Amino acid sequence: MEGTDWQVVKKKKAAKKMVRSNETCVLKVEMCPVLQLSDSVQEQHNLIQRIYSTMENVKQSEFWCSCQECFSACLHKLALPPDGDDSGIHEMESSNNAEGKQKGLLRPDCVCYGLGNFSSCVISRHQLAFLLLFLDQLKIPTDQTCVFDPVFTALEKSVLQNLGLTVIFENEEGKRTVCKPTVFYMPHCGKALYNNLLWSNWTQEALSNIVLIGNSFKGIEERLFSRILLKHYTYINKCLPVVEEASLPESHQYNDVFNDTSIHIFPVHKLRTLPTEVWQLPEAPQYQDCEDLEIIENSKANNNSLDIRNI
Ligand SMILES: C[S@@+](CC[C@H](N)C(=O)[O-])C[C@H]1O[C@@H](n2cnc3c(N)ncnc32)[C@H](O)[C@@H]1O
Repeated sequence: MEGTDWQVVKKKKAAKKMVRSNETCVLKVEMCPVLQLSDSVQEQHNLIQRIYSTMENVKQSEFWCSCQECFSACLHKLALPPDGDDSGIHEMESSNNAEGKQKGLLRPDCVCYGLGNFSSCVISRHQLAFLLLFLDQLKIPTDQTCVFDPVFTALEKSVLQNLGLTVIFENEEGKRTVCKPTVFYMPHCGKALYNNLLWSNWTQEALSNIVLIGNSFKGIEERLFSRILLKHYTYINKCLPVVEEASLPESHQYNDVFNDTSIHIFPVHKLRTLPTEVWQLPEAPQYQDCEDLEIIENSKANNNSLDIRNI
């Protein structure tokens, strides 16, 4: 994606909605109350401009260049050809080839949790810019990409939708089960979110479909008392012997944005080495007496009370 591929075209009167169509982003006029929306459209426009400008900066950075090597692990894991050449995928999709499907040669999904307030926070905005570049690089369609953070403002949700992403409206607490290759992009999320995600996908088949970009599991193991890991973050602990991780390159420029961040995969041949009992009756994580729990829990699932813990 070149800088010139992204352009904002404001239509004459009531430009309302940004949509990404193929390679260009255009503002689309829709029927909305004009009086109330003009300010918010301007705000959306401004924020989208800031996101594009951040994307340009990230794309031209040494950091982005160095990330390409790390992506090869993703490409391999997701059975995508290198350099974003997706002609093979087109063939597989059009031929509806069962063997191809088994090998996962279909476009992966992407789910992003915990981005934070990217309208006000520079770190979050860089993480969003990185996500958009990453999707483009791996040819993951934006409409197969879901995003959620309970702190998103109305403006942020509109901007994400206008960028073509799907905003999740229910707090899943990270408990999304996958049945096809899926990249989870969870920059600097709380350990409970990673743990919940692992629990929801606690089978060899599901885990082997996951690529997780988030805080280094090695780092978590090194920093956390093992009794806490064993008691509260059981699934992170159980997967440690089989997870493979590649840390994102170190970057002075983007240290706050991607420090301690790795790409994690769960190779099926390694998952098979875990003893059978590890897979039996996985109990749902409980965090009742857990200190420093960084998760906003689903109020509906928790007696209608908003549980904000240490955020
Ligand atoms: C430590 S902050 C990281 C924010 C940003 N990614 C950064 O690096 O600065 C953790 C983020 O996880 C989000 N979060 C908490 N509970 C969540 C949930 N149930 N689902 C998705 N995100 C959640 C918080 O709102 C917060 O934005």
